[in-house]
Amino acid sequence: MTAGAFDDKLAEWRAWTEAPWGRIRFAVVAETLRRQAAELGGPLRVLDVGGGDGGDAIPLARAGHDVTVVDPAPEWLAEARHRADEAGVPLTTVTGGLDDLPVAGPYDLVLCHFVLHYRPAEAGDVARLAAVVRPGGRLSVMAPNPAAMVLMRLTRGGPEAALDELASATRRSVTFDHEARKITAEAIADEMTAAGLAPVARYGTRIANDLLTDDRAKHDPAYFSRLLELELALCDREPFLRVGGMWQLVAERPRRPLDGPSGGRADAGGAGPRW
Ligand SMILES: C[S@@+](CC[C@H](N)C(=O)[O-])C[C@H]1O[C@@H](n2cnc3c(N)ncnc32)[C@H](O)[C@@H]1O
Repeated sequence: MTAGAFDDKLAEWRAWTEAPWGRIRFAVVAETLRRQAAELGGPLRVLDVGGGDGGDAIPLARAGHDVTVVDPAPEWLAEARHRADEAGVPLTTVTGGLDDLPVAGPYDLVLCHFVLHYRPAEAGDVARLAAVVRPGGRLSVMAPNPAAMVLMRLTRGGPEAALDELASATRRSVTFDHEARKITAEAIADEMTAAGLAPVARYGTRIANDLLTDDRAKHDPAYFSRLLELELALCDREPFLRVGGMWQLVAERPRRPLDGPSGGRADAGGAGPRW
């Protein structure tokens, strides 16, 4: 998918981000990233790859971190700068993409949210992203959850629709009118460990929202506020986090390389965090 395809859809994307389900997505991720940043200490150097119009970057810039957004779509970057100006925070933008990494790294925290499913499986993106994380720094990757797509089609369209979804290897993005790959958190976890990163956290976003079919109710401020409270309560809680509309994985580059041929394994035994 080309940058132009995204540039053309900025208005549709902005409408999506302002809908209740879009606001839930950004509010939950602002909280998960706030926790990650607090664990890392700060202020941090943050790189948001495919950071678009700055939805995840601006809360981090507001918190005092030094944030760079790299994205191939100039209009999205202009929107990110506009939103940063409105918020009165500095934000660096760089026109480029995953193929241009590294961008003046290494970084304490690297984000790549909602991009990898538009990229070919064989692009080696996770290894590129991992390469710009400093030792002791973290990488956060996020994408739509294929399991949640089945449940969403079930609640909206019944078993026939859910069976179709289960059988399909791709998904059509309504906002971008484009076919995207289905990628599981487990596949990306394997790529992260192969790149020498160790598991830190897994979160789910839009867990309750996607099960609720009455979208009109979500526009009521009191209802929305309880729904967001529930999403925040569930985002790091088993088993709910596994069925959220989006998964988010956070991994750390160890200060010393991990043992073993692939650096370390997320499913290895022991007391450490698991995915
Ligand atoms: C669905 S938007 C996600 C934006 C932001 N990360 C978020 O989650 O709100 C996808 C973004 O990926 C960007 N993109 C497309 N191709 C890319 C590439 N090769 N490298 C990096 N970003 C890319 C698009 O321009 C767009 O800003």
